[in-house]
Amino acid sequence: MSPPVTSATGADKAFYLTTPIYYVNDAPHIGHAYTTTAGDVLTRWHRQRGEQVWFLTGVDEHGTKVQRAADAGGVTPQQWVDNLVEKEWLPVLETVDAANDDFIRTTEPRHAERAQRFWEQVREHGFVYSAPYEGPYCVGCEEFKFAADLVPGTGEYEGQLICPVHGRPCEQLQEENWFFQLSAFTERLIEHYEANPDAIQPRSAYNEVMSFIRGGLVDISMSRSSVSWGIPVPWETGQVIYVWFDALLNYATAVGYGTDPSSPEGELYANTWPADVHLVGKDILRFHAVYWPAMLMAAGEPLPRKVFAHGWLLVGGEKMSKSKLTGIAPSEIIDHFGSDAFRYYFLRAIAFGQDGSFSWEDMSARYTAELANGLGNLAARATAMVVRYCEGILPAATADGAAEEGLQALLVSTAANADAAMVALDFSTGITAVKDFIEAVNGYVTEQEPWVLAKDPANRERLETVLYTICESLRAIAVLYNPLMPKTMQDLWGQLGANGSGATGLGPLAAQRIAGVAVWGQLPVGSSVTKGDSLFPRLEETT
Ligand code: ME8
Ligand code: MG
Repeated sequence: MSPPVTSATGADKAFYLTTPIYYVNDAPHIGHAYTTTAGDVLTRWHRQRGEQVWFLTGVDEHGTKVQRAADAGGVTPQQWVDNLVEKEWLPVLETVDAANDDFIRTTEPRHAERAQRFWEQVREHGFVYSAPYEGPYCVGCEEFKFAADLVPGTGEYEGQLICPVHGRPCEQLQEENWFFQLSAFTERLIEHYEANPDAIQPRSAYNEVMSFIRGGLVDISMSRSSVSWGIPVPWETGQVIYVWFDALLNYATAVGYGTDPSSPEGELYANTWPADVHLVGKDILRFHAVYWPAMLMAAGEPLPRKVFAHGWLLVGGEKMSKSKLTGIAPSEIIDHFGSDAFRYYFLRAIAFGQDGSFSWEDMSARYTAELANGLGNLAARATAMVVRYCEGILPAATADGAAEEGLQALLVSTAANADAAMVALDFSTGITAVKDFIEAVNGYVTEQEPWVLAKDPANRERLETVLYTICESLRAIAVLYNPLMPKTMQDLWGQLGANGSGATGLGPLAAQRIAGVAVWGQLPVGSSVTKGDSLFPRLEETT
């Protein structure tokens, strides 16, 4: 039996993107917000392209790590996760302004039931057997480790092997477990990835996974007998499903895996699965690019189209982490700069796929140069001049010349380049394309000097042409930046008077399409332009 590895591609299926489901051992930090924000920007981009989209995020509530955090907090694991989800993990979605379609918790019955069904299926297909497990386990990673995964410790761990991610020795496990026959999938995984080299990105991640698989896969425990906080193994309820082999299933259970195909949940599954992108940090690449597709092959389900492993936010050269207490809460930054500047900064300043560090200095510098002085100043000048010289009524462009035609042509290539980069998850290149266009428009304003044109009524046509050109450029910028900075771009849309419908406006910003964004002359002449609040207030004003 050889189940299909990919299902039909096509516009009939929604673009389905997931983030990891995060452990609720503690509150979120900007590393988690980074992944969620990237997923949100990408899914908003696809929506702006007019595609159907499904954006899933959620939390991973089982396992030893969460159980121990609850024990240390003196509450039951369920109380612990309920409290943290409500007080921290759901609110952080608002904080970063994520527009997710669903939020999955692995303690929900819909997940537990469907996860059990999945493993029943894998067992029926003959890929599960019982055997003793002995070996090192990192609770921080919730992972059975191989000797090759560990590194020599230093300092207090001198002479011991430690987990390189958590900087601590592993625990030695010895238990009777159920095993998943991962080794049966070595060849099929290699074939699949050779035929689909874009299924793991970036390239460095692809190479890492391929060399791991080519090294030969060994069977791995899919259950834990010494852990109680988890989903019972359906055929032996005294054991729980190993937390990763519960968690990975969320991507399928949340969209209706294992439900009646004619039910709403079953229809959602047909409309979403396989996932188009699993967005993950590079710390959990192996789970997503090796174990998860093997599990899906074993169950007979189609494989996800792409796993993208981004880099780490570093603190002092190491991965920012809950375990090491080096996390910065997203609200610390967002209270000061706003959610849009947060979203902009992390996707613009760090090449997606590489590691990066956050610094207040760099963030302030980019905020001031690129957002306040760049886009904010352009919008403020444009709206102020239309108010001042044209009573706030958008004039017509009747005297286009080489400068205007140059901007119009630049917008065409900007939109094409931004779209290509964004759908390839190259956020910084996509953002830079728009930023370069903003700089070109700012340069145009400086060269055309509309404030000089305004002094002589003989220049009226040129003045009106210049003002229209700036506002029409801002119309396109608002559309192209809407997925990245939805709150601010909505303000800009309002200031341009574009909100109205019919002859007086363009309708909602979200309804504008990337494909048509470079068509020149959309903002209706006569629109009512207003000078609103500054889009990116100067930092001194906010403190
Ligand atoms: O691994 N830099 O959960 P987790 C960038 N529950 N991204 C970071 C980061 C950092 N310093 N720290 C965390 C788990 N992340 C499992 C996942 S999925 C079926 C189960 C982000 O709470 C990044 O996306 O440890 C990373 O992969 C994820 O949070 C790990 O979150
Ligand atoms: Mg982790």
